[in-house]
Amino acid sequence: MLPDEKKKLAAQAALEYVTPGSIVGVGTGSTVNFFIDLLAEQMSGEIEATVSSSEASTERLQKHGFRVEDLNTVGHLSIYVDGADESNSRLHLIKGGGGALTREKIIAAASDQFVCIADDSKLVDTLGAFPLPVEVIPMARVMISEQLLKIGGSPQWRKDFITDNGNHILDVHDLSIDDPVALETQINQMVGVVTVGLFAQRPADVLILGGDRGIRTISA
Ligand code: 5RP
Repeated sequence: MLPDEKKKLAAQAALEYVTPGSIVGVGTGSTVNFFIDLLAEQMSGEIEATVSSSEASTERLQKHGFRVEDLNTVGHLSIYVDGADESNSRLHLIKGGGGALTREKIIAAASDQFVCIADDSKLVDTLGAFPLPVEVIPMARVMISEQLLKIGGSPQWRKDFITDNGNHILDVHDLSIDDPVALETQINQMVGVVTVGLFAQRPADVLILGGDRGIRTISA
């Protein structure tokens, strides 16, 4: 089965978690794009509104006719659906491959249930083979790179990319992340870091993996 078919399977399964009449938090990325399209096909009249984690997802949602609300207006969400770059079996995630990590983390924090959807290649024993994205205030980029080097990472500036918040991304290679909660705290405390793409303090609640033999669901 092709990776896109696996992503679509996971996206379809996530619709089961969406309650008619609810406001749905929507992440970013190719797997979420399938979710948005399927939500439009199968539940468009039943969704009160959405809250989006990126300009790209907002555009796609609005093209389908969904109302996109500001999180400040909505305040709280019952469900958030998003993808991931890696997950371990405890549902700690690496996110931010698409650069939307900060808004994604905010919406995850505001949601009762975080449903993560991915193809089964994203499940790993130890996080870190995928370079860990860190969103930084531009003037602090070099200073933070030096600190990330000191903790054993190899940061690379994602050149020609500016986040929706106007910041830079460092992709940190060569990390083997044995304690995701501790590393999330450590990197978040570096002055100038906006967000690290480790979602461990607030992990996913449900991970839906699409694979050759269908869906596998892991719950926290
Ligand atoms: C964007 C993300 C995405 O969820 C992550 O990159 C997975 O993307 P895809 O579904 O395209 O594999 O964190 O910031």
